[in-house]
Formats: sequence, C-alpha cells, structure tokens
Amino acid sequence: MPGFDTIAIHAGAEPDPATGAVSPPIYQTSTFKQDGVGGLRGGYEYSRSANPTRTALESALAELEGGTAAAAFSSGLAAEDTLLRAACAPGAHVVIPDDAYGGTYRLFARVLRQWGLEHTAASVADVDAVAAAIQPGRTRMVWVETPTNPLLGIADLPALAKVAHDAGALLVVDNTFASPALQQPLAHGADVVVHSTTKYLGGHSDVVGGGLVFADAELGDQVRFHQNAMGAVPGPFDSWLVLRGIRTLSLRMQRHCENAAAVAEFLSDDHRVSQVLYPGLTSHPGHEIAARQMSGFGGMVSFRLAAGVEAAVAVCNGARLFTLAESLGGVESLIEHPAQMTHASAAGSPLEVPADLVRLSVGCEDVDDLIADLRQALSGAS
Ligand SMILES: Cc1ncc(COP(=O)(O)O)c(C=O)c1O
Repeated sequence: MPGFDTIAIHAGAEPDPATGAVSPPIYQTSTFKQDGVGGLRGGYEYSRSANPTRTALESALAELEGGTAAAAFSSGLAAEDTLLRAACAPGAHVVIPDDAYGGTYRLFARVLRQWGLEHTAASVADVDAVAAAIQPGRTRMVWVETPTNPLLGIADLPALAKVAHDAGALLVVDNTFASPALQQPLAHGADVVVHSTTKYLGGHSDVVGGGLVFADAELGDQVRFHQNAMGAVPGPFDSWLVLRGIRTLSLRMQRHCENAAAVAEFLSDDHRVSQVLYPGLTSHPGHEIAARQMSGFGGMVSFRLAAGVEAAVAVCNGARLFTLAESLGGVESLIEHPAQMTHASAAGSPLEVPADLVRLSVGCEDVDDLIADLRQALSGAS
C-alpha cells in the first residue's frame, strides 16, 4: 500500500490511454457518442451521470480517505443535501453539532426540516451529550465536524462511532477542516466523510465543490443514484481544479500546520486576546484526542478579544496581509468575523457563535509576515 503523499500525487491519474497525457484531460463535453444504441464507450453517456474528469476526481477522493467509493458535487452543501436525502427518509432524525458551519445548520433548520428531517444539536466534544440526543429507532445519523467550524472543537471519532452504531445510526464526519492529509475518519469508524472541496482539497480559492466518501459500497451506490437523479454535479473543469489541488495537499497542509501553530502561540501571549482556540495548544480540551486521531492540528485558528465585539471587528478590518473574506483552506491567509459572516445564519439558534470571535485561515505565506500583520491589526484595535 503506497503512502499518503504518493496516493495524493497519483490517485485517479493513470496517464491518458489515448495520448499519454500526464495531467488528466478536461473532458469538456455534455454528451458522448454511442456506437449503436446502448453501445457506450467506457460507460459514459451523459455528463450529469458520469464524466471521465469527474471519475478521476472521485477515484482520488475514495483513495485519499480509504473508502470504497466517492461522489463529487458542485458544492459542499450540495454533497450534504444529496447525502441527507439519499440516506434519510422524512420523519427521520439526525444529531448535529452545536457548533458547525452556519450553512450546514441552515440546510438542516431551514430546508430539510420542511422535508420532514428533524435534528437535535449536541456538542461533538461530549460523547454523553451526543448519546443522550440520539432517539433510538429514529436517529439515522450522528453528524459531526472535527475540528468544528468555527470553535475548533474536537470529536472523539471511535467513541462516537460506537455510540452511533449501537443505536443503528451512521456516523457522518465533515472532514473539511482537517483534510485527509491530517485525518481519515473512515479508519476511526465513520461511515461517510463529507468535504467542501472548495477548501483544503482545492487549496487555491478558485473553485467551489463538494465530495462524499463511503465505507460501504451499497450506501455509495444509493447516493450515486441520487447524485444523478438530483443533478448537483461539478463540471469537468471544476473537477480538474480540485484534482490539481490534491496533488500538493500534503505539502500545503504541512505548512498550514506549522504557520497556524506559530500564530496560535503568538496570539496566546497577547493580553488583548482572551482565548485562543487551536487543537495544537496543550491547553485545548480536545488536544489529546486530536493528537491521537490527527497527524497535524490544521491551519484554522480562532480567537476571542477581551475588549469584545468592536475589537473583533476592528482586528478583521485592520488586517492587511490576511484578506477579509469568507472561506478557508487556500494558500493565502484569510480573516473573518464569523458572527456577521460565515455563521450569520446561526444567529439566535443553539449554534450562535460568540460575537467577540475572529477566525483565521492561516495560509502558506512567511509566518513572520503573518504575525507582523496580526500584531499591527491588534494594536490598531486597542
Ligand atoms: C466545514 C464546512 N462544511 C461544509 C461547507 C459547505 O461547503 P461549500 O461552501 O463548498 O458548499 C463549509 C463551507 O464553508 C464548511 O466550512
């Protein structure tokens, strides 16, 4: 079995049989000529159902996460919606994190509830709370993020897999923050991995996409049926961009982790910062679990300002090298105010985030420049 870096560089990419092209061709076509009715070449008939560039990405995703099958989507939320409607029926129940991406919460609270899917929020860091939120016989999934967005909470995946499986439910893990380079949830007992490939997998802030990876081939087939029936598929060029990002995933994650650790240390020493949330800090309540199930602590750092919401907004507005923008996982560093930006849709809900919180996606620049920028932004805010 090759190592992860070898897989990341080669997965889904046998040189093109027709030409030897080393980079997978972008099959920018909606349809495929048939050699007589039903005479498909390589199984391709129409690009919603399957497209060779997307197939290359899907094979790579499955290999990276150690799954039996994968499906790619036009966004992370499209992946989530397709999974939920394929694997749950109206009347079912899902335990969701009490700290999760705001758009995921909005999908559960404002879209799928009308379809008949109920949810209960529980802290992913508290196995007993998740167990208590399960409704035996009705709960179809325990859905977790680890680390969570934006509070960087850590879920104990083997413990949650046991709790979910004892209740006959699936464990679904959104692995967007860690990426498969740092954490492979299927190896810890998860049934499905969710990705916003927009983030670390794509890695360059130039594409929106999503992915699902399955431990069980039958569930994979069921979701792939829905992928075609519901149609939220990525185009060939977007599939290619994610595939290209994957080639450098390990290198980028290594640098993200080093830079984020240094930024977290710097922030921990600043008196204007009341709390730094980073699983690599030994003070983080999930540090030991993260150290067990992750090979690095990631590039996301959140922190709270002692002086409150105005100071948090001022730091975001004052940063120069950190770009004020939603999203994460690209090579360039981003800063944002979750309460008014990525998590505005959770306002007034059990998932509401603290207003004094700032979230950083620490990029791959020179770390001294990143720290200098934060120093000047903090000085300007006090
Ligand atoms: C953890 C997490 N999951 C899912 C999503 C949704 O992905 P997309 O924006 O690609 O739809 C996001 C987006 O920010 C996210 O941060």
